[in-house]
Amino acid sequence: MSLDRIIVVGNQQKTQQLFRHYTSNLFSADNLEDTWEVINSVGPDMIVIDEWLFGENTARFIKKVNSKFANLAVLAVLKDEDDAKVKSLISCGAYDCINGESDHGRLGRIIDKVKYSNANRCEEKVFFADDCPASVSIVGKSPSITNSLKMIKIVAKSACNPVLVIGETGTGKELAAKAVHILRHGSSSKFVAVNCAALTANLLESELFGHVKGSFTSADSEKTGLFEIAENGTLFLDEISEMPLDLQAKLLRVIQEQTFRKVGGTKEIKSNATIIASSNRNLLREVDEGKFRKDLYYRLSVFPITLAPLRHPERKEDIPLLAEYFLRTSVVAPDKTPKIRSLTKLAMETLKKHDWPGNVRELCNVIDRAILMETTDKIGCNNLMLTDDLLMENPGSSAICSFKDFSLENAEKELIGRALQESNGQKTRAAALLGITRATLYAKVKQYNIPTANQKVAVSASA
Ligand SMILES: Nc1ncnc2c1ncn2[C@@H]1O[C@H](COP(=O)(O)OP(=O)(O)OP(=O)(O)O)[C@@H](O)[C@H]1O
Ligand SMILES: [Mg+2]
Repeated sequence: MSLDRIIVVGNQQKTQQLFRHYTSNLFSADNLEDTWEVINSVGPDMIVIDEWLFGENTARFIKKVNSKFANLAVLAVLKDEDDAKVKSLISCGAYDCINGESDHGRLGRIIDKVKYSNANRCEEKVFFADDCPASVSIVGKSPSITNSLKMIKIVAKSACNPVLVIGETGTGKELAAKAVHILRHGSSSKFVAVNCAALTANLLESELFGHVKGSFTSADSEKTGLFEIAENGTLFLDEISEMPLDLQAKLLRVIQEQTFRKVGGTKEIKSNATIIASSNRNLLREVDEGKFRKDLYYRLSVFPITLAPLRHPERKEDIPLLAEYFLRTSVVAPDKTPKIRSLTKLAMETLKKHDWPGNVRELCNVIDRAILMETTDKIGCNNLMLTDDLLMENPGSSAICSFKDFSLENAEKELIGRALQESNGQKTRAAALLGITRATLYAKVKQYNIPTANQKVAVSASA
C-alpha cells in the first residue's frame, strides 16, 4: 500500500529513498521550520522526521502538528533502537518510530495503518481559517478573527516597527504577537516577553536596557538587558500602558534612534529587535488623562492589530469552535480528554450566551474545569462553571447580575473584589477564577485600589 503524499524533513538520501517506495509524491523540507510552508501547499498524509534533525524544537513541532491537523501522522526515523527516545516521542504525539536501518518490514504495516485510518476518519474538524498559515495556531473563522489574521500577515510582511496589539484581557494579544514574530523572523529566533505591569519602574528599566556594574547600590555585576537578549527577534512589551512615563520617553528614544544605553552606561548599543507592545486599555484615553505619552502613542499605532472580545457579534461564532479545540487539546487530565468527545447542545448554547469577560482564556479555563468534573463522554451544562456561577454560589453577597450601575469598570471592580474574597486574598487563585493573568490582576488591583484580604485584616486590626 502507499500514501498519496509524504513529506520527508531533512536531506537524508537514505530516508528519502526508503519512503519513495511508499508514495509517488515525495516532498522534502530542509528543516522543521520550513516544513509548515510545505504542509500548507501540499496537504500531506504523513511527515517523516529524521533523528539527526532532533533538537529542542522537535517535541513542540510534533505537538503543534497534532493540535493543528488531528489526523496527520508524524513518523520519526531513529538511527538506533532507543526505548527512552521512542517513549518520549510517542508521548509528544508522534504516530510511531522506526529504526531506519532495520525496520523496513514494519514500515509497510505502519503505512497501511495510516492509510486505513485516513480512509476511515470521520469528517475532520478544521479549527483554523483557510488562510491561516500552518505555523500559526489562531483558532477561529469569524469575520473578526479573519480580519485580525489579515492584519497580522500584513504587519509581519512589512518592516513596521514597533507594532501594537490591542484588545481586552484574554483575547489573544500574546498569541497574535507570537504570530507576527514567527511570520517575520521564524520560530527559531528569539521572542522575549516582559510584563510592564509586573515590575517596579527601576527594575523594569534595568530589565529592558541592562545596567553596568555599580550603577546603583545592588548592581554588583553587569547585566544584559532584554533589548540586547532579543537580538534580531522580538521584544514583547506586554501591558505597555503600565510603563512609567519617564521610561516611556526612553523607549521612544530606542524606537527613533534604534540604539540605547545601559543604566549607568555611556556606550550606545544597537537594537535590532522588533518591538511589539500590547495593551488592554484604551491608550488614547490614557493619553488624554496624561498617563501615556502622546508621541509614543502615535509611534506605536501606525498599524495596530486589534482583537475583538469574544462576545462581539462578529466574533461570537468562534465560541463553539474554540470550545471544541480546547476540549481536544487540553492537557489538564490526559487520561480523560480522549474519552470526552464533545459538549451537549445545551452546554454549547450556554457557552454562546455567556458574556466572557475573561475572553478566550476564560473559555479555556471553563473547558479545563469541565473536563476535570465530567464523568460521561459529553460535557454537560452542570459541569460548566462559568465565572458568574462561581460568584453566585456565595449567597447574601451582591451578585454581578444585580448591578444597577452598568459601567464595565464597576462590574470589573466588583468581580475582582469577589474573586479575591473567594480566594482568601490569594492572587494566583483569584486570577484563575477570573480567567486573567496574575499580572493583569495586579494591575487592576492597583488601578481600582481594591483592598486585598491581607490589607483588610491589617485595616481592621489597626481600627
Ligand atoms: N484564537 C485563539 N485560538 C487559540 N487559542 C487562543 C486564541 N486566542 C487566545 N487563545 C489562548 O487563550 C489564552 C489567552 O491568550 P493570550 O495570552 O494571547 O491573551 P492576552 O490578550 O495576551 O491576555 P492578557 O491581556 O490577559 O495578557 C492563551 O492560552 C492563548 O493560547
Ligand atoms: Mg497577554
